[in-house]
Amino acid sequence: MVKINENYAKEKKNYLFIEIAKRTAEFKKQNPGVKLLSLGIGNTTLPLSQSVIEGLNKGVKYLADISTYTGYGDEQGNSDLRQSLVEFYKKRGIDIDVNEIFVSDGAKPDTANLQSIFAKDSVAAIQDPSYPVYVETNMIAGKKIVYMPCTPENNFVPELPAQHVDLIYICSPNNPTGAVLTKETLKKFVDFANQNQAIIIFDAAYFAYIKDPALPKSIYEIEGAKTCAIEVNSFSKWAGFTGVRLGWTVVPFSLKGEDVEEGQINHIWKRRQTTMFNGASNVAQVGGIAVLTEKGQKESQKLVDYYMENAKIIEGGLKNNGFAVYGGENAPYLWVKTPSGKTSWEFFDILLNQANVVVTPGVGFGPSGEGFIRISAFGNRKDIEEAVQRISSLKNDL
Ligand SMILES: Cc1ncc(COP(=O)(O)O)c(C=O)c1O
Repeated sequence: MVKINENYAKEKKNYLFIEIAKRTAEFKKQNPGVKLLSLGIGNTTLPLSQSVIEGLNKGVKYLADISTYTGYGDEQGNSDLRQSLVEFYKKRGIDIDVNEIFVSDGAKPDTANLQSIFAKDSVAAIQDPSYPVYVETNMIAGKKIVYMPCTPENNFVPELPAQHVDLIYICSPNNPTGAVLTKETLKKFVDFANQNQAIIIFDAAYFAYIKDPALPKSIYEIEGAKTCAIEVNSFSKWAGFTGVRLGWTVVPFSLKGEDVEEGQINHIWKRRQTTMFNGASNVAQVGGIAVLTEKGQKESQKLVDYYMENAKIIEGGLKNNGFAVYGGENAPYLWVKTPSGKTSWEFFDILLNQANVVVTPGVGFGPSGEGFIRISAFGNRKDIEEAVQRISSLKNDL
């Protein structure tokens, strides 16, 4: 008789965003006609840039002609796209081999699946709070999890793990706190990982939101990272590909580990991907090449700038009303302390029912997220302004 993987029973009943959608749907049912504003999910709202549209059209046209038609693509992804990514890193002084790059259909599947190539009894250190995928996938796989708390007391900068760990998940700029780790902090993690033969899984999905030139956009800006870090990245938040679906992961040949030979982790990830994944859409990949052109990058930056202007409006509005607000400077997320000691879900419900604004309860990102909400800067300017006004108008009642 078939048995369910018992680790699913350890998961929260619903994935965070499904629970939010459920409560929102219930509210809509009870309050038909009320206009809800969503600052909840980090979903992009602006249309794709001109270069990307042209790139995607080009990809479709290739499929319309027998001489350019392609079916299944190259194992690790379109080689022109991977070459463009090599150049993209090179411009920032980082040398990556084209065969160290694996094109994917987004950062979520890769951050979810990478743990599967490491031993079952691996211990994973994960920032708390963090993007729920890291904790939940390690939990489903039965791996042990060690939290690295990120709180106002440590400026949302995790301490090095005090015990043995094998995998270290770092997301910078961070979802949900908006904190970005400095080169000095990342160097400490890289040195720790190298000393302990641990692997860092570095999620750089929000790199394009870093405005401060002193802050690192890639883990490979840190000396020693090529022997201990895998970088996962995405076109989603950078170029509006949340629905198009495209990302990439860098798995250096020189990664080390217990009894690990040169190139072995790269080879095993390739083995995993070629066994369980059949590549990103060929059309999306031509769109990705367009993002990486000079014009494409400029246009994508405009989208990012628009969301960052939203972030500024939210930050200013809430701070003026006495809220303690973190993040939002180099990230599209604002991490807001709930007033009067309310729990995350209590404040979520107040904002939903009284301001008709949907946010994300901080506790959904981990225990250290209790007492916070996350506000996303993705959205239309008018909605953002109205949402800030609505939240502000509640202040005296909280
Ligand atoms: C930290 C982080 N990584 C990855 C993702 C997902 O990226 P993708 O759309 O490329 O799967 C998200 C999406 O919200 C995210 O917040």
